[in-house]
Amino acid sequence: MDLHDYEDVAMNYDHYLSVMYSGNANPEDFKAFYLGLANEYGKEGIIDIACGTGAVLLHLAENGHDISGFDLSEAMANVAKKKAEKLGLKLQIYSADMTNFRFDRKFSLAIIARSGFMHLTTPELQRKALMCIREHLLPEGILTLNTFVPNVSLQFEQMNTTVDDYTLRLEYTNYQGKCERLYNAITYDPLTQLMSGNWKFETLDDNGTIIDTRIRPLKMRQTTKMEMEYLIELCGYEIINVYGDYNRTPASDKNLIWVLRLK
Ligand SMILES: C[S@@+](CC[C@H](N)C(=O)[O-])C[C@H]1O[C@@H](n2cnc3c(N)ncnc32)[C@H](O)[C@@H]1O
Repeated sequence: MDLHDYEDVAMNYDHYLSVMYSGNANPEDFKAFYLGLANEYGKEGIIDIACGTGAVLLHLAENGHDISGFDLSEAMANVAKKKAEKLGLKLQIYSADMTNFRFDRKFSLAIIARSGFMHLTTPELQRKALMCIREHLLPEGILTLNTFVPNVSLQFEQMNTTVDDYTLRLEYTNYQGKCERLYNAITYDPLTQLMSGNWKFETLDDNGTIIDTRIRPLKMRQTTKMEMEYLIELCGYEIINVYGDYNRTPASDKNLIWVLRLK
């Protein structure tokens, strides 16, 4: 089980994410970015892979796009489904693994928004996902995904952290209206390029006493730019653009947003 497979994490995901990104100059930038890609490339259907609780999926559907989505976590997909029903949107949202899924149609645009692709923990799983997505793209179909580039100063910090060396990330109100503190501890293994760690959620009562503690594991893989370029070529895609953020600034040394076309 990984972080998003837990029911409590899925139920709280939108709640803690809105606090996590509230410090950003424009926390909704990612939605505008994916809507731009949808308008440009999504005319013949869009698949939102690792759709989570549906942030991108629902935004594009509300803007008139023909979009379906899936997530490995049944709990996350269920939250997305309920949100779609509430909005009166009839969408196909289900649970599946991006390394091995079957859909009875092809799409002109596949989106793996935010950190979905980084949850693939080996180069083999990354390759399987890219090959499986290939089968679901129309000729010259577009795929967008994000990667973390191994970053020396962050690696140094994480290589000196243990899995229970917690740092307070934020405080938020959970889906039941209770105050929660979220801590995480992330370690880095340079051999596998895996960031592994634990997220700790503490629920507090009205007096500030901890009444519940939940530890949830998380693994994500960092991938070098050159490694990605090779993998992309190997799997039969070409690079159209690589950005450093959702405002389409040039590629950075930390986060990369790839836009690929099927060759
Ligand atoms: C950080 S969330 C991002 C969710 C959503 N794209 C968003 O922008 O809010 C990453 C998601 O990837 C999903 N995931 C991880 N591995 C997956 C896989 N092999 N196939 C499909 N989804 C996967 C997780 O369950 C989780 O919901």
